[in-house]
Amino acid sequence: MRTAILVWLTLQNSIHTLLIRYSRSREVEHMFLSTVAVFFTELMKCVICLGFILRDETPKRFLGALLDQVVRQPYDTLKVCIPAMVYILQNNLFYVAASHLDAATFMITSQLKIFTAAIFTVIILKRSLTRTQWFALFILFAGVSMVQLQSSKSDSAGPDGQKPFVGFIAVVIACCLSGFAGIYFEKILKGSAPVSLWMRNVQMGVFAIPSSFAAVMWQDGKVVQEYGLLYGFDWVVWLTVLWYCIGGLSVAVCIKYADNIAKNFATSVAIILATVGSMVFFSFQPSALFTLGAALVIFSIFMYSSSQSLVLLFRRMAKSDCLV
Ligand code: C5P
Repeated sequence: MRTAILVWLTLQNSIHTLLIRYSRSREVEHMFLSTVAVFFTELMKCVICLGFILRDETPKRFLGALLDQVVRQPYDTLKVCIPAMVYILQNNLFYVAASHLDAATFMITSQLKIFTAAIFTVIILKRSLTRTQWFALFILFAGVSMVQLQSSKSDSAGPDGQKPFVGFIAVVIACCLSGFAGIYFEKILKGSAPVSLWMRNVQMGVFAIPSSFAAVMWQDGKVVQEYGLLYGFDWVVWLTVLWYCIGGLSVAVCIKYADNIAKNFATSVAIILATVGSMVFFSFQPSALFTLGAALVIFSIFMYSSSQSLVLLFRRMAKSDCLV
């Protein structure tokens, strides 16, 4: 189950990045509003989660469960308010980043998540990391910076209006938010009341749907009032929204059955796939610096995971020695 989810997440992530990039870079009369895309994603996620809950319950018990776990336990529902809000901000920033960076650079800089997730794992979950693992994270950071150097060498505004620096700042902030929200959600999911994953996501939706709508009105209110909510939406945008929704739920499942750090490894492997895709679809030419940076990122992933496996192996060996 764990491996299947990790493999699925890898594929999902590579297609996702290419899809956002494609929906942003095509020649269209009206560009869709990314805040609206985030709003519809949250709405869709909530509907799908309600569907999963309904699948396991009769309609009467379904309403009872919703009342019990969402309305009658306001403190428990309130707990997911923080990751829900943080995810909304993060999702909006990732759209900004994806439209200002090429797909492969976006994928690789997004890997800063692994660093922030590790820091919050230590702070919030109070788990320790080995020295090798921290070193691996440093190599990861160096690799990501090299990749960034390539895109900042180009003009501040690229030929199609891309601003790599803006994209980079957005991705860095989004990664900090991602690390925090992911670990916080993991703590809630694994540590407190036995509330199902789908119900947790419905609880998140209670905050995420209104706040993402507030973000639409705050940022793009004028355009929405003039042209409507579905301004610039076509089947490609709907597909991107659906894919983002599936991705979000896959992340949630991955946090449940594995953890945030394992989830980030899966998405790292997606870099290679996105690079290949980017070369084919967007005529992206990787420079030597980009290639070196990407190689370092991938090397650090192996270093981090092998250190973890070694620690597990030593622990198992020590345990079996004690038993003998
Ligand atoms: O990889 P990263 O941590 O950035 O992915 C987070 C994504 O997963 C966000 O889009 C967030 O909305 C989604 N998510 C979700 N439900 C959860 C946890 C995350 O939809 N329970």
